[in-house]
Amino acid sequence: MSAPENIGEVLFSAERIQDRVRELGDTISKDYKGTDPVLICMLRGAAIFTGDLVRSISVPLTLDFMAISNYTSGESSGAVKILKDLEESIEAREVIVVEDIVATGLTLSYLLRSLQARNPASLKVCTLLDRVVARIIDVPLAYRGFELPDVFVVGYGLDFQQHYRNLPFICTLKSETRAPEL
Ligand code: PRP
Repeated sequence: MSAPENIGEVLFSAERIQDRVRELGDTISKDYKGTDPVLICMLRGAAIFTGDLVRSISVPLTLDFMAISNYTSGESSGAVKILKDLEESIEAREVIVVEDIVATGLTLSYLLRSLQARNPASLKVCTLLDRVVARIIDVPLAYRGFELPDVFVVGYGLDFQQHYRNLPFICTLKSETRAPEL
């Protein structure tokens, strides 16, 4: 585990996360009964959440992965770049985008427009965390794990300088000014 002395307050314990992920999986299983959805894991942050979520879903499903560049505030178009695209077509598929966190909504807004243009049968979003106070653009969230206050957090897939993703819980950091192993 990275630099435990730098871990601040634990906001969501491993047990609480696992309970909530199971609830989300149960709800999705009911909502998608009789269908064969494709879950799109947004790399890298959603990797851990997606791994647990798909194992809590009982309907048949497929899994695909996508990576997009960060939205930067200086970019007026709101466009983000697709770094890694899907392997398979989503045309006529029931699509669930899996995110670790939605904040401004700018990344997701662009992504949803791009995916909608590929003519899926349906397109919904499941996010573990929703930093709703940071929202700039409204995005529809069908499934949401937890609302997050306006604090920087790491763990369970979320990083600081690519570290801390392996923590089983979600917490703040005491210091965000140095790499954890320095
Ligand atoms: C996070 C998250 C979304 C984006 C949300 O990615 O996975 O893609 O930020 O922010 P927004 O709502 O303000 O647009 P991050 O930049 O942390 O990259 P990562 O998934 O590789 O950790």
